[in-house]
Amino acid sequence: MDGNGRWAKQRGLPRIEGHRRGVETVRTTTFAARDLGVKMLTLYAFSVENWKRPQDEVGALMGLLEFYLKKELETFVRDRVRLRTIGRTDEMPPGVQKLLRTTIEETKHFTDYTLVLALNYGARTEIVDAARAYAAAVAAGKEKLNDGSWATFNRYLYTADMPDPDLVIRTSGETRISNFLLLQAAYAEFVFTPVLWPDFTKADLAAAIAEFNKRERRFGQTSEQVTGPVKTVAK
Ligand code: FPP
Repeated sequence: MDGNGRWAKQRGLPRIEGHRRGVETVRTTTFAARDLGVKMLTLYAFSVENWKRPQDEVGALMGLLEFYLKKELETFVRDRVRLRTIGRTDEMPPGVQKLLRTTIEETKHFTDYTLVLALNYGARTEIVDAARAYAAAVAAGKEKLNDGSWATFNRYLYTADMPDPDLVIRTSGETRISNFLLLQAAYAEFVFTPVLWPDFTKADLAAAIAEFNKRERRFGQTSEQVTGPVKTVAK
């Protein structure tokens, strides 16, 4: 969700105004995605690196998050949106943690559509956390080291029971991954758009999905294998 700061700067406004507008886009995009048939939407809302921003900006972002969660709980329940998080949320402010716990609990039975907020998230941190949890499970005799496979290790990631992303969209013209779902996005399609996050609309999302639908996903196989009658052989 990049470009909030630049959106504000272009208008001579403080950066936090860009984030405030960014929250509006979070709202519209959450429902736009569902309308367009998306089952799970993950938003990179706050990274482990974002703590290094000026303290007033970090404080304002936490305030916005708290405001957003307070306001959205009713909407999520009414519109059957399941909320989940990935990241070290136990290091988020206590007020935010409490709201997250309540919202996650009250929406956990919804199955049609899930919004995942990446909060205090970093892919490298996630891999370290997963490796530590996996090592602890091996030490406790719950996993056998020699059985280690991707399917096993995957169960220790924050996203354990979530599907891998099919499409990753980055706004504002940046063409980096920036520590986002590095392992899970191994076979994702990427769409980079110059649109700043506060200006991102349902039409932009639809265009990204249309672009995704044009791509041929080969998952390491040949074009003939994925499109033709040739049967694939599992290794
Ligand atoms: C990146 O834009 C955006 C962020 C680091 C924060 C995103 C947060 C929100 C949209 C609001 C809070 C989230 C929720 C889910 C309510 P940037 O500030 O780096 O923009 P720039 O690259 O133009 O400076």
